[in-house]
Amino acid sequence: MSAPSLAQSLHFWARNASNESALLQASLRVGLFDALPVEGSSDPLMVARLAEAVGASARGVRSLLELLVCLGLARMDDARRFSLAPATAALVRDAAFRERLDAELPWWAPLGLLDEAVKRGEPVEHGGRRWDVLGHLRALLLEAPASRDAAEDFFDRFARSAARTQVLVTAARLGLLELLATAPRTLPELGAATYLSTPGLHVLVEVLARLGITREEGGAWGLSPEARQLLEGKALAYLVRSLSVSAQYWEALGRLDETVRHERFVLDLKDPEVSRRFYADNSNQITAVFASHFQLSRRAAATLAQARPLEGAAVLDIGTGSGVWGAAFARATPTTHVTYFDQEVVLEQVRRNTESLKVADRARFWPGNLFTQDFGSAAFDVIILPQVLNVLRPEDLPGLFARVARALRPDGVLLIAEYVLNERRDGPLDHLYFGLRRFMTNEGDLLSASEYGRLLADVGLTRSVCIPLPTQEMLLAARPGVALPTQLAPADSVSRQEPARRA
Ligand SMILES: C[S@@+](CC[C@H](N)C(=O)[O-])C[C@H]1O[C@@H](n2cnc3c(N)ncnc32)[C@H](O)[C@@H]1O
Repeated sequence: MSAPSLAQSLHFWARNASNESALLQASLRVGLFDALPVEGSSDPLMVARLAEAVGASARGVRSLLELLVCLGLARMDDARRFSLAPATAALVRDAAFRERLDAELPWWAPLGLLDEAVKRGEPVEHGGRRWDVLGHLRALLLEAPASRDAAEDFFDRFARSAARTQVLVTAARLGLLELLATAPRTLPELGAATYLSTPGLHVLVEVLARLGITREEGGAWGLSPEARQLLEGKALAYLVRSLSVSAQYWEALGRLDETVRHERFVLDLKDPEVSRRFYADNSNQITAVFASHFQLSRRAAATLAQARPLEGAAVLDIGTGSGVWGAAFARATPTTHVTYFDQEVVLEQVRRNTESLKVADRARFWPGNLFTQDFGSAAFDVIILPQVLNVLRPEDLPGLFARVARALRPDGVLLIAEYVLNERRDGPLDHLYFGLRRFMTNEGDLLSASEYGRLLADVGLTRSVCIPLPTQEMLLAARPGVALPTQLAPADSVSRQEPARRA
């Protein structure tokens, strides 16, 4: 396999590297590596049996297992019975290697205090002990062996992946990435501009250099040419924001074993106050990526319009976030009316977004709770559930689908935009990591297209198609006899629509 590009690595460190380490550390802590039978030496086991064996929640154990299978560390047969890959067993059941893994476990929480360590240049206090976080990072990331055999690769995923994310999170949070992007500076200059300690700055710039992000030239540190090119324009701000989203999960990821064991949620988004704060912040993030999501939602609207004209349509966008999906439908024709439904705190931003897109005159804002709201009867031609089903716990889905089906006109179409899993539920990897975060925050499960199809058929939406969009999937569902598109509208169909609309 060729080495990943810096762009791929940055994407991984910002979004999934901490998930990867947390997955492996939690699997070890809950005893999954010991409870799984080794492939070929004894019979594989179902999730329920494994959950019972380790004394953990079946849903939690399944979230870990599907990822371990996707990473090639565990196996799943056609009856969804699981075993450990022999190569993984050889590593995790080796006493010396196991000791090395165990020694990393206590470092998660202290690494979360990296800001403080970098500011002060000293060990930090945690749980009544002092932790030399900078020294640990140095050993972990700067003194790492160059060769990557299977053991080193596993250790890298287990410990270093999350550490890399934490360095990036800290460099972003302390303003160092932005500073390095403006002009190369010597360490004393960086110190004077940031008030950070010299040992702290040293570790950060050197680790960033290892990652290919910074470079020293003539005593001055700046971004490497490759990073400079990648982080041009708005890309740096986008990276900084996605790192800040990842940082919100740090503590919960470090205590993932508790969640898997007892479904005890450290970051509980079912707590209204936690959810309000989290999603208010998140909607700024979503607004920041508005442009790229708008491409996607407009393409989805153009796709549906191939089979069902949107002129005069009443559209309901549930869990609208930034309004990016509803607004795409509003922009599809000059006569489409869109109702934007979300928590009140989120709708403030949607109001501003619809104004700047000049669709506020055909907008209605509906604050409410999607878990309980009655959406009415036969009131909408199109209902959109964009990236919102993953917020609901599995037992809440049938109720929402029933309320949505009732609110659809007889020839109405439901559009679900989601990360839809493959039929084996062992991929794609990015989707599974996203699903792990949803489980961890007391939210939903990701489903396969046929799992959605069955739930939708139960509420009378017996026709459904799943059409892949560039980064997620679009599921369209309707009653019998309603025409649905089968293919994604071509990318240029969106830009072709635009001049006509403006004319
Ligand atoms: C992951 S965001 C999706 C945002 C947007 N649809 C998009 O695709 O960018 C989920 C949205 O669901 C909303 N949400 C979560 N729980 C909710 C609840 N109980 N009632 C109403 N909205 C809720 C959040 O405020 C958030 O805007």
